[in-house]
Amino acid sequence: MNINQIDNVIREGSFQLFEGDFTNAGAASSELKNVLKEIGVDENVIRRASIAAFEAEMNVIIHGVAGTLFYSITKEEIRITVTDIGPGIPDINLAMQEGYSTAPDWVREMGWGAGMGLPNIKKNADSFTIDTVLGEGTTLEIKFYLKYFPLPKVD
Ligand SMILES: Nc1ncnc2c1ncn2[C@@H]1O[C@H](COP(=O)(O)OP(=O)(O)O)[C@@H](O)[C@H]1O
Ligand SMILES: [Mg+2]
Repeated sequence: MNINQIDNVIREGSFQLFEGDFTNAGAASSELKNVLKEIGVDENVIRRASIAAFEAEMNVIIHGVAGTLFYSITKEEIRITVTDIGPGIPDINLAMQEGYSTAPDWVREMGWGAGMGLPNIKKNADSFTIDTVLGEGTTLEIKFYLKYFPLPKVD
């Protein structure tokens, strides 16, 4: 018996994220979206999880130096953990405010940095925690509870 069977993990995966790597922006969240579709998760949950994963992924690419997005799906929940080795967040309350952003001008010119990422993660998630240490990094844990057991599709 492997660890997946013990934990009842239906699917899991991880992605490396790098600051400034806009070419791969959205790769992690779009794979998660495809996996959720494949296993038949409720559309509304897919939409919310994709938004949250995308915003968390973008934050590492914009602010976080380098990091990892890890997702794990069990019959109870989708758990998305995004951890980075960036500068950390000095004031979480401020960072959580709609429209607050420290993104540099060149990032804003690309259309990012509207300061809506963290508030949107919070709005969409069933559970959301941020752990941050200045000079060490930031970890987000984002969860969505699954009311209906998604049956893995058999090809
Ligand atoms: N992973 C992170 N590392 C360091 N700072 C972050 C991180 N995520 C968010 N922040 C800080 O919180 C602010 C608000 O984040 P967010 O709401 O996603 O807006 P935006 O990314 O558009 O700036 C960011 O501008 C940044 O100062
Ligand atoms: Mg953001």
